[in-house]
Amino acid sequence: VSLKTYNTFGIAAKALGLVRIRSVDDLLAFVSLQNEHRQSGIAPSRRVAPDWDALVLGGGSNLVLTGDVRRPVLKMEILGKRVLEDTPEGWLIEAGAGESWHALVQWTVSQNMPGLENMALIPGTVGAAPVQNIGAYGVELKDRFHSLDAVDLWTGQRFSLNAEQCAFAYRDSVFKHAPAGSASEHAQRPFASIEEGAGLHRSAAAEQPIAPGDKAGFFNPGMGLATRAVITHVRLWLPKQWTPVLQYHDLERCMAQTGITEPSAQQIFDWVVQVRREKLPDPNEIGNVGSFFKNPTVTAEQCNDIIAREPRIVHYPMPDGTVKLAAGWMIDACGWKGKSVGHAGVYPKQALVLVNLGKDEDSATGGEVMTLAKAIQTSVYERYGIRLEPEPVVV
Ligand code: EPU
Repeated sequence: VSLKTYNTFGIAAKALGLVRIRSVDDLLAFVSLQNEHRQSGIAPSRRVAPDWDALVLGGGSNLVLTGDVRRPVLKMEILGKRVLEDTPEGWLIEAGAGESWHALVQWTVSQNMPGLENMALIPGTVGAAPVQNIGAYGVELKDRFHSLDAVDLWTGQRFSLNAEQCAFAYRDSVFKHAPAGSASEHAQRPFASIEEGAGLHRSAAAEQPIAPGDKAGFFNPGMGLATRAVITHVRLWLPKQWTPVLQYHDLERCMAQTGITEPSAQQIFDWVVQVRREKLPDPNEIGNVGSFFKNPTVTAEQCNDIIAREPRIVHYPMPDGTVKLAAGWMIDACGWKGKSVGHAGVYPKQALVLVNLGKDEDSATGGEVMTLAKAIQTSVYERYGIRLEPEPVVV
């Protein structure tokens, strides 16, 4: 199967197959088949070395494929969105992992449930949103997150996590870190022997007993769930006492230009859509994965050193005393806008975004993208002494 249409960069990597997951039952059936095969020693394919860890695809908008995928690929297509609770304090919204994130934002705003408007037009699915704690224009997913349901691919257990257990940080969560142990170790242990661990909730919708954290600390902070857990449903909490978030420079500019000082959520939604359309390439037209690097954080002293050499550097002091630097500004200052390696290029309007300059046969390869990314990292390091970290998941 070609994965070209399943990743927004449009890289033409191949996979052995693709499993469409339309319900939690589909996922549980996949896990039991995997475990059966693992125990009987059947490899996913005779042609390649078996690798059991599934690659989970949502919209493929935060993924860079550097070669063919020798793992089972799960395409998450669990749908449905609803208001679970409507109380005087707020709305509790639940959506299936396969729903489009932007469609969810649009729906809540149009139903007069404000709170997600700053995160309009972020590509990808609801299930992918917690993985990298998506964020834009001053709001992150974690600010509106309530809880999620997931399935443990190693044991087939369903469980729920709250925000704390997801260990959200800037473009980061427990879902981006490698787990301890291995699938075969865990699969061999009968589930009943795993003792109840702290802080793991019973899944609201689950019919079976829910996976407790194991004693070794399955859900201890710092313990990862990447390749182990698959998110099936996400719940968001939107307080009825709505406070617009307007402190981002692009939104301040919109306010100044229109003279609107008290915008509605719909107005903010429209501004965010407009700003993103101006600055960021539409993945349907030009392959990309949004920002390619995270904005690095440095100490106040490091920042002062850099400012002494580069007084114009864009930087944001953080509440904890550290300073976040605009990676796009640094890449731009190193002269990368519009440059390319093969068919991978730096977007001329936003240097933090790498784009696929080709389309069909002349499409960028994962190798070209990574060569370009490495060259950018080297030049930023040589000039500022800062190591840029990729933002998407590199497979
Ligand atoms: N800048 C330049 N040249 C460039 C790019 C940026 O000088 O080529 C300057 C801008 O003028 C601005 C500053 O750098 O002063 C920051 O740029 P921008 O406001 O465009 O935001 P960003 O830091 O590049 C981040 C997120 C985006 C998010 C926007 C808005 C990360 C890695 N990226 O970008 O998220 O939409 O802020 O909140 O944090 C994504 O994660 O994929 C993404 C698009």
